[in-house]
Amino acid sequence: MTTFYVTTPIYYVNDKPHIGHAYTTIACDILSRYHKLKGHDVYFLTGTDEHGQKVEKAAKESSLDTKDFVNKMSENFKNLISFLGCDIDDFIRTTEIRHIEAAQHLWNKLNDNKQIYLSNYEGWYSVRDEAFYSESELIKKDNSFFTDSGSPVEWLKEESYFFKLSLWEEKLLDFYEKYPESIQPKTRYNEVISFIKSGLKDLSISRTTFKWGIPVPNNSNHVMYVWIDALCNYLTSIGYPDVYDSKFVKYWPATHIVGKDILRFHAIYWPAFLMAADIEPPKKIFAHGWWTNEGQKISKSIGNVIDPYDIINKYGLDQIRFFLFREVPFGNDGDFSKNAIANRINADLSNNYGNLVQRICLFAVKNCNSLVDVSKKYTDSDNELLKFCEFNFSNYSNYMESQQIDKALKSIFEILSKTNSYVDEQAPWELKKTNANRMNDVLFITLNIIKFTSLMLLPIIPKSANKALDILNINLNERNFSFMNIKNQNKFQILNPKPIFPRIDK
Ligand code: MSP
Repeated sequence: MTTFYVTTPIYYVNDKPHIGHAYTTIACDILSRYHKLKGHDVYFLTGTDEHGQKVEKAAKESSLDTKDFVNKMSENFKNLISFLGCDIDDFIRTTEIRHIEAAQHLWNKLNDNKQIYLSNYEGWYSVRDEAFYSESELIKKDNSFFTDSGSPVEWLKEESYFFKLSLWEEKLLDFYEKYPESIQPKTRYNEVISFIKSGLKDLSISRTTFKWGIPVPNNSNHVMYVWIDALCNYLTSIGYPDVYDSKFVKYWPATHIVGKDILRFHAIYWPAFLMAADIEPPKKIFAHGWWTNEGQKISKSIGNVIDPYDIINKYGLDQIRFFLFREVPFGNDGDFSKNAIANRINADLSNNYGNLVQRICLFAVKNCNSLVDVSKKYTDSDNELLKFCEFNFSNYSNYMESQQIDKALKSIFEILSKTNSYVDEQAPWELKKTNANRMNDVLFITLNIIKFTSLMLLPIIPKSANKALDILNINLNERNFSFMNIKNQNKFQILNPKPIFPRIDK
């Protein structure tokens, strides 16, 4: 059976969740639901990244002990998952014993494979990004250095273990030449390749100046660099260090969905660690863009952070899930504007989809006593519409398989627009007076298209699409892509139609 292992980044618990976290998590939920509807065996992982200086610093600023702080903050992320309606298989925390053991095992494996050595690190470090920078990557302002995203850096000088990243340049380039699809979108692939070609230096992978991390095996003066600890979560969840664990065998390698800011860690460090530990590199790394708020960078200091609870309580869960993925090509940056949300909800969800469901189902209730029979005969326009739907479903599937969620959504809404025009042209309300059989057939075709588009919408707006399928009285076990065929339906018995998407008043 085809398997699909999808992961979100694990989120730092230094602060409460914001729209950026919700965005990546919903993306993975959409892909995971899509694959389930295809009949694939899916494993969807998310969780929290709880070690490192940034988290330790945030704990110190609270009045809590570090352990209590991370327990409390991690809970916020867990709660967000259910609030977002995400159907996950595991929520991992890097402070769990299973993870500490896995990370230490990975370290030992790298050490056994002669990939680690002890030396001294001297250079720039950003606690906000938990990343090392060379001076050429920094911008000088008033005698201080900053990253191009504005994070301050500090000069570190300490004993450190190093990972021999420089050994992996050629092997990484060979791997990516062989599997160019494994970094998406293409522009990100090019970025990674040119970064590798510019030369890889050995990577500092331990710290001695603070304690909040996983101890390095056999040297308790050192804790692991938070990224080697964090990346290992993707292995821990599926049973590592037991590489014969049934989950590990079944699901590895994974598809990692990450923000563009953490591509380098996932597309360079991570595959190098894995190859160095005799593990296959990830199947795919997809880097998405960042959201701005009404044109401005989202930042705590500007005070324009978007709280996912506020926005979802205001517009509705499915409405926001839909907006985030319809408005902006997945991979590009996007702007969160109230006007754009209202326009999207009204044009696509209320007018194009919701209104079609409502008017056809109500019409069927009033004029056919809720019962619409199988069509006896298909006209050219019926066949044309059904063919178009079939063609767009195949595009939709290809887009979903390649994480082009916006394009997949576009394919659905093209079907819906065409179906609305079909209904206007066929005018069942006229046929009612002249040709009751043809009226039934037009309704039967349209209800099938509503069913198909609702099935296609299930990954994105699961609650609302299920409401539509409830109205069409589709069995729960028939709500998947093996039922995308008009032959599966020999009638429709409509149940109690209710509006699905009320218009947003601007
Ligand atoms: N802990 C690391 C990831 C380790 S994975 C092994 C981390 N955590 S994070 O909490 O800072 O960020 C998690 C994700 O949120 C990243 O993918 C990041 O790109 C995303 N976003 C943060 N702000 C964002 C926006 N404004 N817009 C979209 N996504 C953004 O990095």
